[in-house]
Amino acid sequence: MPSTVLVGTQWGDEGKGKITDLIASHYDYVVRYQGGNNAGHTVVHGDTKLALHLMPSGVMYENATPVIGNGVVVDPGALVKEMAMLQAEGVSCDNLKISCNAHLIMPYHKDLDGADEKVLGKNSIGTTKRGIGPCYQDKAARKGIRVQDLMDEKIFRLKLEAALAQKNPILDKIYGLHTYTVEEICDEYLPYARILAPFMAETTQLLNEAKRAGKNILFEGAQATMLDIDHGTYPYVTSSSCSSGGAPIGTGVGAMAIGKVIGIMKAYTTRVGGGPFPTEQRFPENGGVGEEAETGEALCAIGHEYGVTTGRKRRCGWLDLVIGKYAVDVNGLTDIALTKLDVLSEFDTIKVCVAYEHEGKRYDYCPMQQSVLFHAKPIYEELPGWKGVDISECRTFEELPENAQRYIEYVEEFVGAPITMISVAPERDATIYRNWSFEY
Ligand code: GDP
Ligand code: IMO
Ligand code: MG
Repeated sequence: MPSTVLVGTQWGDEGKGKITDLIASHYDYVVRYQGGNNAGHTVVHGDTKLALHLMPSGVMYENATPVIGNGVVVDPGALVKEMAMLQAEGVSCDNLKISCNAHLIMPYHKDLDGADEKVLGKNSIGTTKRGIGPCYQDKAARKGIRVQDLMDEKIFRLKLEAALAQKNPILDKIYGLHTYTVEEICDEYLPYARILAPFMAETTQLLNEAKRAGKNILFEGAQATMLDIDHGTYPYVTSSSCSSGGAPIGTGVGAMAIGKVIGIMKAYTTRVGGGPFPTEQRFPENGGVGEEAETGEALCAIGHEYGVTTGRKRRCGWLDLVIGKYAVDVNGLTDIALTKLDVLSEFDTIKVCVAYEHEGKRYDYCPMQQSVLFHAKPIYEELPGWKGVDISECRTFEELPENAQRYIEYVEEFVGAPITMISVAPERDATIYRNWSFEY
């Protein structure tokens, strides 16, 4: 069976964790291919709500082997902590496989992430300060330290010494920060090596053997299309390839193995951190007044839009279909899972952005020039709502209020990919399948 990729279509936090967890039992492997513990994926299991950062959301099922691919950046301390949290919740991490080629986030990466943001001042990206960007920087510069290096103390010490010879002067002379000794970092990191060694694996080989044996693989994207280093709103992006194209790169499974690409689309839009966001309904603290501020506050409150990783209040706005269409193209989406539709039940009418206007020109596509996207005025279509109807118990498309059905049809027709799943509450079973199939 061809493999499936699951990706975010907006700026993250679309509900990737829920949908991955929902379908994971049908897969033999659930694989993270990029990003690190900047991700925060929520899975709700019975009364338990778990926040996953590095662990693939398939970990809840014993049949689905969770894999951390070569494209991921691993903070070993964060991973050990997450595994302990899961074990305390009764979730076994015994099957975890970690690519020996994944890069390690080092303590100085986190310091430099924070320091770089400080220097940018009001132009800061609003990173999660988990050291993601500086770690990928070292990877691209061919100076990174990998999971396999951690497993060999002699090599680890040599690589660390070389890294510190460059990092310490930067930490000290440019940023006035604390410097590190090899011993200090070894004291922290070598115990992680002992804990993580049993999970280290040749994951490229493992996954390709699995494919040959007819096993099913699900690639779980973190972050999202508009945060992709190439296709997102650069420089207000993360440092990895979050789109579906990142899956072959970040795992070593060939692109032809992929047969299904599911885009997770929240029924409205949110963004954490800085950067352009044309349909944003600004909060009062960000200059929003009147209806704009009310809408922003309502979406945030009803949708509980606070970051899983950093606790930050997420910026909120109407659904941007120009971006939706772009995500269909960039990822080659075969399916869309529309999430958090229940949050829109509070509104009389619902706006969707169908184009932008900038300096008298209409844009029906996502403009590549940052300055245009920054100042683009959304052109909205206003659709009738289903105010006051609780849709969280609906389990078929036909049970949804007629205006909700029309909304779904409008979105899928506009963006050009079918909405085959609709999520109406955080729980696993609060999902409507619509012409959904694991076959393709
Ligand atoms: P991810 O990063 O894409 O995995 O998404 P997050 O976990 O960061 O954020 C999604 C939030 O929405 C989580 O708190 C989920 O429990 C919640 N959620 C997911 N689907 C739905 C839904 O259909 N309705 C509501 N109300 N909440 C949802
Ligand atoms: P999930 O997988 C939302 C954002 C940060 C910042 C930018 C760069 O839960 O959807 P980074 O720390 O990656 O260098 O920050 O990217 N960001 C996310 N926003 N959801 C995420 O992950 C994110 N991961 C990073 O807020 O704007
Ligand atoms: Mg998240």
